[in-house]
Amino acid sequence: MSIVRDMALAKDGHRKIAWAAAHMPVLSRIREEFERTKPFAGLNVAICLHLEAKTAYLAKVIHAGGANVAITGSNPLSTQDDVAAALVEDGITVYAKYNLTADEYKDFLIKTLETEPDLIIDDGGDLVAILHAERPDLAKKIRGGCEETTTGIIRLRALEKEGKLRFPMVAVNDAYCKHLFDNRYGTGQSVWDGIMRTTNLVVAGKTAVVVGYGWCGKGVAMRAKGLGARVIVTEVDPIKAIEAYMDGFEVMALEEAAPLGDFFVTVTGNASCIDARHFPKMKDGAILANAGHFDVEINKNDLRKLSRSVREVRKNITEYTLEDGRRLYLLADGRLVNLAAGDGHPAEIMDMTFALQALSLQYINEHHGEVGPRVLEVPYAIDQQVARYMLEALGIRIDELTDAQKRYLESWKV
Ligand code: ADE
Repeated sequence: MSIVRDMALAKDGHRKIAWAAAHMPVLSRIREEFERTKPFAGLNVAICLHLEAKTAYLAKVIHAGGANVAITGSNPLSTQDDVAAALVEDGITVYAKYNLTADEYKDFLIKTLETEPDLIIDDGGDLVAILHAERPDLAKKIRGGCEETTTGIIRLRALEKEGKLRFPMVAVNDAYCKHLFDNRYGTGQSVWDGIMRTTNLVVAGKTAVVVGYGWCGKGVAMRAKGLGARVIVTEVDPIKAIEAYMDGFEVMALEEAAPLGDFFVTVTGNASCIDARHFPKMKDGAILANAGHFDVEINKNDLRKLSRSVREVRKNITEYTLEDGRRLYLLADGRLVNLAAGDGHPAEIMDMTFALQALSLQYINEHHGEVGPRVLEVPYAIDQQVARYMLEALGIRIDELTDAQKRYLESWKV
């Protein structure tokens, strides 16, 4: 029995899902294959992802492949209530609402696991973590699953290292068709979309400080530059710091960047990146946003302790007034700004990511017996298949190696 905010919202949700689906040709092609071949016939699939329109379409594609699907959100602030309601009408079991308390969020994860899945899809690792920590009894049936994001893969590898991982998990984030496009172009666009629609302020001419220069940080910095900002990158990894410098960005320690930034965006996957060392140095009016999976990158405790008052000044904007009267503005309560204050990545980007999810889930269902409980890469053939489907959808033809070129690449003689 599903739990959603309001079934009367379903009509709007169906429209959003239809719009997304119409811009996801790769996943639509996989849907047609799944409808024919029913790779998940009779299986239970539990999904924990940011529940918005593109995710809903993935759930429908897996359902079309014969699965009974149960879904919950992977963040207390990223579920869209209209989309959740529409999915219930589409025959999916949904435990998801926008703006959950920590207890409700956890309760929904457990309810989703109580559907006794054969396969799972996770984003950020909460479903797998709670299963291993609190409900290992529900792991018995699980053949394996897929993980969407960098943070989730770090947690899975920690479980694997301790010898505790109970089933194989495919690291979807590490596929080329995921991180090259989703992390870079998806995050790059959706983060600035979230910041701009939330603040309605100009980016051009301002200074944007991007904290972290992984694939997501690269995208956020690149798009900030395109919007006309002066961009400063901060890093802890010396190699990534040089990469950012060679890519044309200013690179400095965050304590030096703190007084300069108009916008700060954290994209590190780590905790307390902006904290009491930095807030007192910032300008009046500085805007703080996080794009990492958890709301730990901007230290909200430190910010609260340094403030004499806190109030919401606009939807998803909290004003923290420091003791000396300077005001700092935190977006979306430090939750990932592109989903908690936006619609997530563009549909064409999530098309490739969710195509990888669907095909990797099929792969792990077919091969779980051979691989054992470990973190696996997406097979390169699946990565290439998704890229080829995408090129076909774009109407782009590429060259092929001739036989002579293949032989050349395999030879060692001078
Ligand atoms: N939409 C659904 N899942 C998402 C994710 N992990 N990042 C951005 N947009 C999304």
